[in-house]
Amino acid sequence: MAETFRQWVLAKPLEGSLEPSHFELREVPLPEPAPGQALVRVLLANIHSATRKRMAAGGTKVGSTDSTNFACAVVVKSRDPVFNEGDVIHCQAGWQEYQLVSSTDAAVGYPAVSELVKTANGTSSPFLYAFRPALVKMWSPSVLMNVLGTSGLTAYFGLRECGPLMPRDQVAVAGTSGSVGSIAAQLAKIAGSRVIGFAGGADRCGWIVDTLEIDDCIDYKADDLDAELQSRFPQGIDFFSDGVGGRVTEAVLKRLNMNGRMFSYGSAASLYGESPAAGAPAPTIRRMMGISEEVEEILRRRNIKAEAWMVTDFAHERLKAEDDLSRLMFAGRLKPVTNLVEGFEKLPEAVAGLYRAGRSGKLQVQFGTL
Ligand SMILES: NC(=O)c1ccc[n+]([C@@H]2O[C@H](COP(=O)([O-])OP(=O)(O)OC[C@H]3O[C@@H](n4cnc5c(N)ncnc54)[C@H](OP(=O)(O)O)[C@@H]3O)[C@@H](O)[C@H]2O)c1
Repeated sequence: MAETFRQWVLAKPLEGSLEPSHFELREVPLPEPAPGQALVRVLLANIHSATRKRMAAGGTKVGSTDSTNFACAVVVKSRDPVFNEGDVIHCQAGWQEYQLVSSTDAAVGYPAVSELVKTANGTSSPFLYAFRPALVKMWSPSVLMNVLGTSGLTAYFGLRECGPLMPRDQVAVAGTSGSVGSIAAQLAKIAGSRVIGFAGGADRCGWIVDTLEIDDCIDYKADDLDAELQSRFPQGIDFFSDGVGGRVTEAVLKRLNMNGRMFSYGSAASLYGESPAAGAPAPTIRRMMGISEEVEEILRRRNIKAEAWMVTDFAHERLKAEDDLSRLMFAGRLKPVTNLVEGFEKLPEAVAGLYRAGRSGKLQVQFGTL
């Protein structure tokens, strides 16, 4: 085994647009795991849409890697009683080739977990666990970290908690080309509902309808979004999956039916805006997901059930979700949509490129194989 490994660190404070020059390559000594730790070799890093915001807000420090990143890795040396050499795991690992993990460590950037999650994962983090060997045999690291990772689980629990969806339901899915939206739209279609997505531009809309096999897609950049919604949803909207916020949310809310349902899980519009919104953290998770006091009033008046949460709230039910999603993929009914970049050296360009138009699915950088 080599004595050093590579990592990308933030080279300078982020002001203005994110460029590859904001990353610096370092070569650092390979650590030995202490008792209670395991050394893992990172195969693939998921790049989250909030990466740039965290860099701009100082969450990722100059000279450091982003240690909140989710990754798929293989255990190469273990002195941790939970992990064995050769285990393929989900972990938080930074932009680097190796990482030390410990089953007793809490997740970086997230609150302490419940006893239920500890029992399900055998660790103190919702993001640190060994994938079951059968899943590792069936699915690539990319699929494990996308459909069977936080994106798939967010879509799965969102539709379950706000459901059940019925064939008569008119469903609007924001961020349909995105990692969560692409899965939510397919799950709603599998439930038999009429599903209409949103994307930035006619080409992307065409791609979405062809790829996800949903009923239609609306260009969210259209001048008169209200008129677009009126013509595509003549019976109104029964269910809204929203990871975006902003203009799309405002327009959909106007057409949400009495007794409708809304699942708010994110705010991609602000994360992909010209500059990521700074400012004080939102006081509640509902405000964080863009459910303002005015929106609450609309929801109350129309008796709309609106849920907003972090997927970690359902981490203790991960195995059931993995089984159901895996079965749907195996049957060819659910397709992973990923944006897979290969090569450690390409990571800076891939992260900076995430904030230019044209992305689809989960951005992942792969730099190792099993
Ligand atoms: N609650 C949770 O536990 C949880 C879990 C996962 C993710 N999230 C959050 O959910 C959000 C989406 O995550 P993701 O991983 O699905 O993101 P993603 O893969 O980056 O996709 C984002 C989507 O948003 C669309 N979009 C960007 N700007 C837009 C705008 N101004 N108006 C309308 N649509 C716009 C993009 O469509 P185009 O490319 O066509 O522009 C893209 O499809 C993020 O805020 C993320 O932090 C929350």
